[in-house]
Amino acid sequence: MPDLVQIVYVSRSTFTTMPAELGIEPSVARILAQSRVNNARRGLVGALYFGDGCFFQCLEGHAAEVERLYAALLRDPRHTDLKVLVRRPIERTSFASWAMKYVPLDAEMKGLLRELGLATFDPYRFDQAAVARVLELLGTGRDLDPTAAAAEETTRPGAATTRPGNARSPWTIAAATAAAVAIAVVAGIAAAMGAFR
Ligand SMILES: Cc1cc2nc3c(=O)[nH]c(=O)nc-3n(C[C@H](O)[C@H](O)[C@H](O)COP(=O)(O)O)c2cc1C
Repeated sequence: MPDLVQIVYVSRSTFTTMPAELGIEPSVARILAQSRVNNARRGLVGALYFGDGCFFQCLEGHAAEVERLYAALLRDPRHTDLKVLVRRPIERTSFASWAMKYVPLDAEMKGLLRELGLATFDPYRFDQAAVARVLELLGTGRDLDPTAAAAEETTRPGAATTRPGNARSPWTIAAATAAAVAIAVVAGIAAAMGAFR
């Protein structure tokens, strides 16, 4: 039997964040891009959630790889106050199809927080039942896959042009997603700059 483990931990970002409505944080996008490349190489899967300045991450894979990554995470200056909520052996991974998921703070999560009696995303106050609910939500949540779409855009500068007669091609969908993410990020930065004036 493979020695698979699951670690769920929470932490606080050390960078200044902008309101979630303004789109994905550039710092979080960078972490996602790095995670997707590294995790695919190391056979790790999981989910990353970011809301109200807090990270909630589930990591699954071979024990040695997961523990090596957790040791690196402890030294990463982009977050602090790491607290492990779950560390357990598992039979199989539950996020098999994604190297790293990103699900934005959406209506579903807001509904769950209300149910748990929390005004903000404060995973330090989660009990085991709340952790299970969040994991369930991340497992079934819509993945915007912003970094994959952005990478597509960089490597294929002509990707924004649609191919006639092939409106549903993956390139068209990738280009549309990349454009939407780029607009959201630019709008977010512009709004943030405006706020500090
Ligand atoms: C909240 C958070 C989550 C992260 N998740 C991952 C991850 O899933 N996989 C990963 O390789 N690095 C992740 N990192 C980055 C690691 O801390 C570390 O910088 C990285 O693994 C080093 O990669 P390198 O060996 O390519 O330099 C994360 C960082 C933060 C702040």
